Amino acid sequence: MVSVFTDACRRKETEYTPVWFMRQAGRYLPSYRRLKGTRNVLDIAKDPELASEAVVSAVHELGVDAGIIFADIMLPLEGMGVKFRIEENIGPVVSSPIRSLEDVSELRAFDSERDAGDVYDGIEETVRKLDGTPLIGFSGAPFTLAGYLIEGSPDRELHRTKAMMYGDPDVWEALMRKLTSMTKSYLHGQIEHGVDVVQIFDSWVGSLSAADYSRYVLPYTREIIESVGRNVPTIHFCANSGSLIEKFRSTKADVLSVDWRMDIGDVWRRCKEKVAVQGNLDPVVAAVGGKAMKRETDEILRRARNHRGHIFSLGHGILKETAPENLREIVKIVHKTTRLRP
Ligand code: CP3
Repeated sequence: MVSVFTDACRRKETEYTPVWFMRQAGRYLPSYRRLKGTRNVLDIAKDPELASEAVVSAVHELGVDAGIIFADIMLPLEGMGVKFRIEENIGPVVSSPIRSLEDVSELRAFDSERDAGDVYDGIEETVRKLDGTPLIGFSGAPFTLAGYLIEGSPDRELHRTKAMMYGDPDVWEALMRKLTSMTKSYLHGQIEHGVDVVQIFDSWVGSLSAADYSRYVLPYTREIIESVGRNVPTIHFCANSGSLIEKFRSTKADVLSVDWRMDIGDVWRRCKEKVAVQGNLDPVVAAVGGKAMKRETDEILRRARNHRGHIFSLGHGILKETAPENLREIVKIVHKTTRLRP
């Protein structure tokens, strides 16, 4: 479906700059806290009624230009036999981390309908309720998923993950192959069931050098993006990606999603304008609000001004102490400022 958001992903002229936020259906939102109650994230994600409700309430309450399916990057791994829980304020904790070739061979192949059928039902229900607002599907990228599987609990240093990458390249390749195959199949399933755009979260790959990224990660990400094809735009997200921008461009993703550490204008310059860019307000600034938020939002719009294909967003997920009012204010500023441009 054509929309301001999908047009911006494809670098077409748009009437105004579209906005959405990572984690827009999350704990900062009172309606989400009520819906969540004592349930865990995956129970909601696997219930089409609740999942669609979470997505649609966030879209309506904030006035954003896109919704994102309610799921978690860990969800498809359950069907592959991985046992984990998602702990509040920590993140995913895996019971038996993957450390050997045997561990990798014990992972079951992902079966799209069996392992993600509930997510697909949720997508169909969400598309109906969104009534024309585009829906973003997503998957974790193999490196970031491998990071959770190998470390066992969230650890941004990723020492064990890198140790496997350098020290046990055969195990690394076997694991990356399985995760790549799952990601392709999962994204295809989401597209068949109605998402308009897909975002690939390689949240933690910014911990690699450009040369190691090219060698150990890029071929898999490229394979995934090639397999999505040109029908649905792709967004590639990574935190702390300043040293990897040119490499991300070579994944052929339509949109690069960057965090606040970069001057957003540099992304277009370094990619010779051949990419759309998503970002990049610091989530802390969105939580602070007021004059600082207005100033920083204007500054990003100024830097993006002479480039085609901007999607306004935060550099990473919304912090849970953020007032929803601040996010509504950002949406208004972005729409109003960019509509008035000659
Ligand atoms: O609107 C949305 O964005 C909701 C859909 C969504 C969730 N997780 C639900 C969720 C999305 C897009 C994700 C992606 C995700 N999950 C990523 C990639 C994005 C990123 O932040 O880099 C990652 C790394 C995860 C793993 C994960 N799951 C973490 C680090 C956490 C936070 C733990 C915490 O409590 O702070 C989760 C839990 C989680 N997933 C929550 C939500 C809404 C919050 C906890 C809850 O509601 O109980």
